[in-house]
Parts: sequence; structure tokens; C-alpha cells
Amino acid sequence: MDCEEILREVEKMIWPKKLKLFTAGPVACFPQVLQAMSFQMFSHRSKEYQALHRDTTLRLADFLEAKNATVLLIPASGTGFMEASIRNAVTPGGKVLVTIIGAFGNRYREVVESNGRKAVVLEKKPGEPVLPEELDEALKKNPDVEAVTITYNETSTGVLNPLSELAKVAKEHDKLVFVDAVSAMGATDIRVDEWGLDLVFASSQKAFGVPPGLAMAAVSDAVFEKAKSIPNRGWYFDLLKYKKYLEKQWSTPSTPPIPQIIALNVVLRTIEAMGGKKAWLDMYARRAERIRKGVLDLGLELFATPGYYSPTITVVKTPPGIKGVDVYNKMRERGFEIAKGYGPVKEFTFRIGHMGYITDEEIDELFENLREVIEELKQKK
Ligand SMILES: Cc1ncc(COP(=O)(O)O)c(C=O)c1O
Repeated sequence: MDCEEILREVEKMIWPKKLKLFTAGPVACFPQVLQAMSFQMFSHRSKEYQALHRDTTLRLADFLEAKNATVLLIPASGTGFMEASIRNAVTPGGKVLVTIIGAFGNRYREVVESNGRKAVVLEKKPGEPVLPEELDEALKKNPDVEAVTITYNETSTGVLNPLSELAKVAKEHDKLVFVDAVSAMGATDIRVDEWGLDLVFASSQKAFGVPPGLAMAAVSDAVFEKAKSIPNRGWYFDLLKYKKYLEKQWSTPSTPPIPQIIALNVVLRTIEAMGGKKAWLDMYARRAERIRKGVLDLGLELFATPGYYSPTITVVKTPPGIKGVDVYNKMRERGFEIAKGYGPVKEFTFRIGHMGYITDEEIDELFENLREVIEELKQKK
């Protein structure tokens, strides 16, 4: 068997048919990203690796407007930083105010509790954001919480929380602010210093359009200071250890996912070449607008509260009597991988992801097919 045959066999296993990806992640990667990931490997203790890590970290810090924070790249998926935030910066047995607007806010609660801390919950109905006055009230009632967790973009409901306003309230109460920006970072504004975010994290496989395996975060000095007083932070997610390796040798304590870091570097350079942060975020905003218009033009309804629409994923209510999973299956037969509904709303929603490498022509094609699928399903009822 020659190498070409091996590659074809594996490709047949993972891509029995070509699909256009409108997923919640992993998402389609830019061609230059895939090309860069085929570079030969090299040691993560070499000076070439240090140059890569340094350059990527500094570019990401710039994108996140995080001059006063430390940007960490770690070998994990985004959930790794969820766990790290609790293990490093909340006292064992201490309290955290967890805001929940969907399935991923609920995951944060599970992470808090499974690490032996107490979760005080502020939960909204699916589709709604947390409002600043609600957070203020919850913090007045619970002055002893050490931190607040916020899902910036709730991927299960397609809602973007008003992060800068929520962080402002949390800071007025002098709380640490942990932000799950897994499906927001790279697609919408984040200003770490100005907004006072203490730990804001994401995964590579979302809006930056990089394959999975890398998690990134901006971490404030306050988190590192707090970590010094927390016992049993563990080894793998000990943020002080990551900081030490970064300062000593622009590297990580264990082996990093080098191809993903190369890919992120390529994406950050692509953003610069496309006109910088603003131009890139505008591209994402225009794309989200086009998707929402497509949905409304089909006579379908958006799930999220108006004014809080996600820039990366649009959650759509199915017409009465039609199941979300049927729309998903029919679209897949036609070569489009959208995302099934998720969490408590999965039965009567489906999701259209708009992260990564997607062209306007593909969006138009998606809606031509979606129109036919909805018609077919309505007739079958
Ligand atoms: C908002 C949000 N948080 C957390 C996660 C978990 O991320 P990961 O699978 O990279 O750990 C996801 C994944 O979809 C997400 O959308």
C-alpha cells in the first residue's frame, strides 16, 4: 500500500462525502491554515518554538487589548480553562456566582461543584441574556462570592451577553470576572484591560477557525496573586506554572499542540492582512446579519431575544410539528452540516453556525436548500 492509498482510506473514513460546515465547532479552516499545519514538527524546547510562541502570544494579546494581562496558550480544549479558573482562583469550599443562560453556563456550575466549590446560581430562561441590574441584585444578595462567571456567547441558545456591562457591575462589587468566550473570542469585541476581565478563555476550533486542541486565555495579575494562596491547584492546570514557563522560555510546562499554534499565528496574521481587528469583526457581523436575514426570509423565527443575537451561531425555531433533528438530517443528506439543537431547547430548534471559513456563496446555497427542506418537511406532516 502506498502513502497516497493510506491517505485516501483515512479520508474516506472521515469524509465519506464532502460537507459544507455550518457547525458550532470544529469549523472549516482557511486553506492557508490547513497548509501551515502540514509543516514538519520541531522541538518545543527550541529557539524556533520560542519565537513562534512569543509572536503568537503577543499578537493575541494585541487582538484582545490585553496589555496588562498575561496571554496563555495551553494544550487543552476551552473547558480546561473553566476548570483552571476555579482551581486556581477560588478558595476550596468558597462561593462563585455562576450566571446561566444555557447549557454552557450550566457546565460552569458543574465545574465549580465538581471541584469542591459552591455555586450560587443566577439563571435566565433559555433565549434571554443576563441583564446588568440582575447581576447587581444577585451580588448584593451574595456579597461573599469570590468570583462571577459569565458565558459571553451561549452557543446552545445563540445569545450574546452584554459582557462589558456585566463585567462593570462585577467590578463595582470587587469580584473576579471569569468569562467563557469559547464561541465569542475572534468574532466579537473583547477588551480585557478596559472591561476588567480576570480570566477570559476560548478554544481554537471556534471563531479563529483553527483545528481543536488549543485553548487560549488572557489572565489578570489578580488571578495569579490569588492562585498563590490556593492549595492543591493540581499540576496540569496550575496557572502559576504556565506563567513561569512563559516568562522563563516562552513555552509551556508540557508539550503544546504546535500545529494549532502555527495555525493560530497564521490566522492572526491573516486578520492583520485583512485590515486588522475591526475589519475582521465587521466581516463576522456582516456574515451573522446575512444568516439572520436568510432565516427571516424563509418565514422562520430566531430563538434569541432581539438585541442580543450571537455573532457566531444562529438558533432557529422550527415551524410547529417539525423537529430540529429532522431539519439537521435532511440538510446533511444535501451536503450541509448544520448543528442540532442543544440542551433543553434541542427538540424544537436547530442551529446554523457561522464561524471559520465560509463564503457568501455557500450561505446562499445553504438557504436555497433549507427552503426546500422546510417545504418538504411541512408537506410530510
Ligand atoms: C460557550 C461554550 N463554552 C464551552 C464550550 C466547551 O468548549 P471545549 O469543547 O473546547 O472544551 C463550548 C463548546 O462548544 C461552548 O460553546
